[in-house]
Amino acid sequence: MEKIIINGGNPLYGTIEVSGMKNSSLPILFGTILVSGDCIIENLPPIDDVFAALSILKAMGARVRMLDATTVQINTDGIVCGSAPYEQAIHMRGSYYIAGAELSRFGRTRVPLPGGCDFGQRPIDQHIKGFEKLGASVQVEEGYINAESEGVLQGASVYMDVVSVGATINVILAAVLAEGVTTIDNAAREPHIVDLANFLNACGADIAGAGTDVIRIKGVGSLKGVTYGVIPDMIEAGTYMIAAAATGGKLTISNVIPKHLESVTAKLTEMGAVVEENDTCVVVSAPTELKAVNVKTQPYPGFPTDMNPQMCVLLCLAEGVSMLREGVWDNRFRYVKELARMGADITVEPKVATVRGKTPLKGAKVNAVDLRAGAAVVIAGLAAEGTTEIGDIYHIERGYERIVEKLRKVGADIEKRVVPDDMGAAVI
Ligand code: EPU
Repeated sequence: MEKIIINGGNPLYGTIEVSGMKNSSLPILFGTILVSGDCIIENLPPIDDVFAALSILKAMGARVRMLDATTVQINTDGIVCGSAPYEQAIHMRGSYYIAGAELSRFGRTRVPLPGGCDFGQRPIDQHIKGFEKLGASVQVEEGYINAESEGVLQGASVYMDVVSVGATINVILAAVLAEGVTTIDNAAREPHIVDLANFLNACGADIAGAGTDVIRIKGVGSLKGVTYGVIPDMIEAGTYMIAAAATGGKLTISNVIPKHLESVTAKLTEMGAVVEENDTCVVVSAPTELKAVNVKTQPYPGFPTDMNPQMCVLLCLAEGVSMLREGVWDNRFRYVKELARMGADITVEPKVATVRGKTPLKGAKVNAVDLRAGAAVVIAGLAAEGTTEIGDIYHIERGYERIVEKLRKVGADIEKRVVPDDMGAAVI
């Protein structure tokens, strides 16, 4: 089994460059289904979820050519509607963006129900409601989302009952080539939604209000290919900001948009760290002593749910008792049992963790139970005394580009190694 092995205790010093954002790369890549001609997408993170998205597009008949490690040329003119391969699509969340894009372009779609991290229920009722408002009839059966409309989708008013990144994106994709105007009320405001809208507008779409809770999409007849660069990944950046504070070091995190990091910066500052912002980087210096704080995760611009596990590790290292409330997902605390193996003292009620801080973390054998939980045990391993062995690292590799190399460059004692399993079996 491939594992990440960390000998903890080294403060991190130096610069880490952040990659493109996973959660805008996926809608942009699937958004190319709406575009005629070639798109060149730059600053893509070379991570497993992006490779999987490209492989799905290829299997559907798109021409996909990597121009370099982070740039791809895509032409979806010849794709076959409804041909997203089941096995690949069910392993990632973003594959359901094919539904909105296919409905918009072909007036019908057939997409496997998506996978992604396990946070309890991950309903898609708001996606379905949006598609139906635009005139599609939708069925979820035998593991697929099937939808079709009579003729072109028609613009409509869509009110989201919950703030949903995925549903907002899917309705935008569906509305881009619809006839007339669609408005989305109570839309998600995440930077990846703005990134997708900027990409689509560059291709000729007419989308206004992305980044606010009311988005207006005026349908257009067609989109044409462009060259577009994905924005930096605010969750990867936030993860390394916390790694600096957790290890008692000082890191410059470059290629970021500091505005996207404000909620993380605010909490780190409250805990005693010093965060300096420049145009495209933040510098995080750890304090001698971290203070306990209360945190609640919320949709953007609130503190991101995708920073919940990483922040929890930092709270374990702070003096005093902190409360960490999860405001987005029902079951985001599955990672707590892994931190407990390392000595963390955390009590979880369904959506609130009480973290009693400054228990010394000790290296242990732990697992990455999902993507951000994996990042959290990496940070815990960096801060802990002794050796931490992390299994199921495929979760981490879905979303973090070369995390081992990036951390090693700033002084971490970390490596990826093939380790025989506990039964002594040879594992390649
Ligand atoms: N929800 C509904 N109905 C829906 C859709 C969502 O009730 O139809 C609820 C969910 O159950 C949840 C809340 O709305 O309680 C928010 O879900 P959202 O739709 O915003 O999440 P998502 O689009 O499935 C994306 C990211 C997640 C991130 C969330 C929240 C991608 C591929 N995934 O998921 O990222 O946690 O937004 O910000 O963009 C990650 O990158 O590690 C990750 C899990």
